[in-house]
Amino acid sequence: MKTYNVGVIGATGMVGQRFMLLLANHPWFRVSALAASARSAGKTYPQAVGDKWSFETPIPEVYKDMVVLDAEADMDEIAKKVDFVFCAVNMDKAKIRALEEAYAKKEIPVVSNNSAHRFTADVPMIIPEVNAEHLQVIPAQRKRLQTKRGFIAVKSNCSLQSYVPLLHPLKGFGIKEATVCTYQAISGAGKTFKTMPEILDNVIPYIGGEEEKSEKEPLKIWGQVQNGEIVSASDPVITAQCLRVPVSDGHTAAVFVRFENKPTKEEILDAWKNFQGEPQTLGLPSAPAQFLTYFEEDNRPQAKLDRMQYGGMGVTAGRLREDSLFDYKFIGLSHNTLRGAAGGAVLLAELLTAKGYMD
Ligand SMILES: NC(=O)c1ccc[n+]([C@@H]2O[C@H](COP(=O)([O-])OP(=O)(O)OC[C@H]3O[C@@H](n4cnc5c(N)ncnc54)[C@H](OP(=O)(O)O)[C@@H]3O)[C@@H](O)[C@H]2O)c1
Repeated sequence: MKTYNVGVIGATGMVGQRFMLLLANHPWFRVSALAASARSAGKTYPQAVGDKWSFETPIPEVYKDMVVLDAEADMDEIAKKVDFVFCAVNMDKAKIRALEEAYAKKEIPVVSNNSAHRFTADVPMIIPEVNAEHLQVIPAQRKRLQTKRGFIAVKSNCSLQSYVPLLHPLKGFGIKEATVCTYQAISGAGKTFKTMPEILDNVIPYIGGEEEKSEKEPLKIWGQVQNGEIVSASDPVITAQCLRVPVSDGHTAAVFVRFENKPTKEEILDAWKNFQGEPQTLGLPSAPAQFLTYFEEDNRPQAKLDRMQYGGMGVTAGRLREDSLFDYKFIGLSHNTLRGAAGGAVLLAELLTAKGYMD
């Protein structure tokens, strides 16, 4: 496998920092350009990040002398240095859409963590184990953008990763409706306990835009490819409430689900245990050996104990039982900046590479 040069746009942010850690020793990818806003441009990476570095692991040595570029003004220079970019920026949505399209039009594939293009019909929104087949729309997107190589592929929102992977293997039983309540970590807002002191001893019952994303994005993920576009599924109905809780990393979901053909508990557990996606069959470097892990203990999964399952790329579940109102209820957990953000994007880039889209 050749080594691919990659750029990280938004390298100084919470998700960007995760990318930098994950890519420091990646077997296929090597960071060759870093970019952020004009505020950071011209500084070395450690200077630009300053005291915003959010991890106990220090900034890897390989980045110590790298100079941060301006994601917009230095686009041509970045395009010369990279085979593709990861993008995780905090900007106005219209500006993100324009920025990502501009990179794609410079023939640089963009693997994005941002929500701006999630509902562009020919942009695949991928959970690699769930809907890898949606990558088929890339040729149609290239045609629209008039590119040979450049395209945009996006990840879904981090909240979904704690319940969509668990509902997906159960689709054969006909999921009619699901209610989810998510308990989301502060790193999902790009915050730490130092920068979000108001969360200590507290639960905040509102995360802007999150409930709509949690209800709507699964339907695109379960949609069908038709004439070069993804047409969202019309069911199941999902209703969501999303709360911010005093947890550093790891989104938990309490899920209630009703089926057309109610399975037994054993059938659900078997479906989870036996589920594999393309990342597992292709043996991608970031793929967890077991995507879904069920805990028998009543007090699991716990964010603090279980978010790092398979390096933060595995999704965990527990407390599956029958419900008096719905058919079943259970708890799901996933790491929001690993599986839910940078790790999920690296896995998506590996899938795109293995399938030849980065050549
Ligand atoms: N945190 C999560 O768990 C999570 C999960 C899924 C998706 N996401 C998405 O990922 C994106 C980044 O989130 P985050 O939590 O990492 O945000 P963040 O910590 O606030 O970082 C934002 C990044 O964007 C850069 N930026 C801001 N304005 C810019 C501009 N005009 N041009 C270029 N770069 C600019 C910042 O650079 P400076 O340092 O120079 O300002 C910084 O690198 C967002 O779209 C978010 O919705 C986050």
